[in-house]
Amino acid sequence: MIHLENVSKTYETGSKAVRDLNLHIEAGEFVFIVGNSGSGKSTLIKLLLKELEPTSGSIVVDGLDITRMKRRKIPMYRRKIGVVFQDFRLLKDRSIYENVAFAQRVIAAPGREIKRRVPEILNMVGLAGKYKSYPRQLSGGEQQRVAIARALVNRPGILLADEPTGNLDPSNSWEIMNLLDEVNRQGTTVVVVTHNREIVDQMKKRVIAMKSGRIVSDEEEGGYANED
Ligand SMILES: Nc1ncnc2c1ncn2[C@@H]1O[C@H](COP(=O)(O)OP(=O)(O)O)[C@@H](O)[C@H]1O
Ligand SMILES: [Mg+2]
Repeated sequence: MIHLENVSKTYETGSKAVRDLNLHIEAGEFVFIVGNSGSGKSTLIKLLLKELEPTSGSIVVDGLDITRMKRRKIPMYRRKIGVVFQDFRLLKDRSIYENVAFAQRVIAAPGREIKRRVPEILNMVGLAGKYKSYPRQLSGGEQQRVAIARALVNRPGILLADEPTGNLDPSNSWEIMNLLDEVNRQGTTVVVVTHNREIVDQMKKRVIAMKSGRIVSDEEEGGYANED
């Protein structure tokens, strides 16, 4: 599903954010990516989204070599990937329903499909009763659920989450991680960047640890690295 071969990314500043990375994630996997601040995790996510180009190496996602992709194919490619960030990134002046529907309007989904799909996905994330609310009326955990609903509404095969619980308390963090686990059980490939040691240690998933732009460990049913 996701294949990186000898991928490096050096920013214009000279900062070597990702160094000679080789990484393979199969369809249906749930993977944590851990590592200190500055270890290259967000750069990796941006490379997968084709928000950044690698300095060298190849990235193949769902059979597509995205390093050779024509510019006009990028919007179609991005539909294959849902993405969630630490800061939710909801539209403050739109209702929860509209925040989720927006992702479908962008791809010109038919109105009847939107009317059917938005309630379905809000129900899946446990927010069916809040569709008329605005983001400021929801807790952080609920806002992140909306962001997850928006990321999934177009049925991407892959969900990338960059520190999705970074702004949440422990109980909301668990709820979000359990939701991501459920999303994965329903068939979506899920990649989660996190600093949440307790959750990583308890969930017994594949854990890839990065340090200075390199993968320093990759374990099935792994834990958070001991060093900081
Ligand atoms: N836009 C940028 N320009 C220059 N350097 C950057 C940029 N973004 C990140 N970096 C640098 O690349 C390295 C990796 O950053 P990042 O991928 O954000 O790490 P992480 O998400 O693990 O904290 C850091 O040294 C960071 O300062
Ligand atoms: Mg980061």
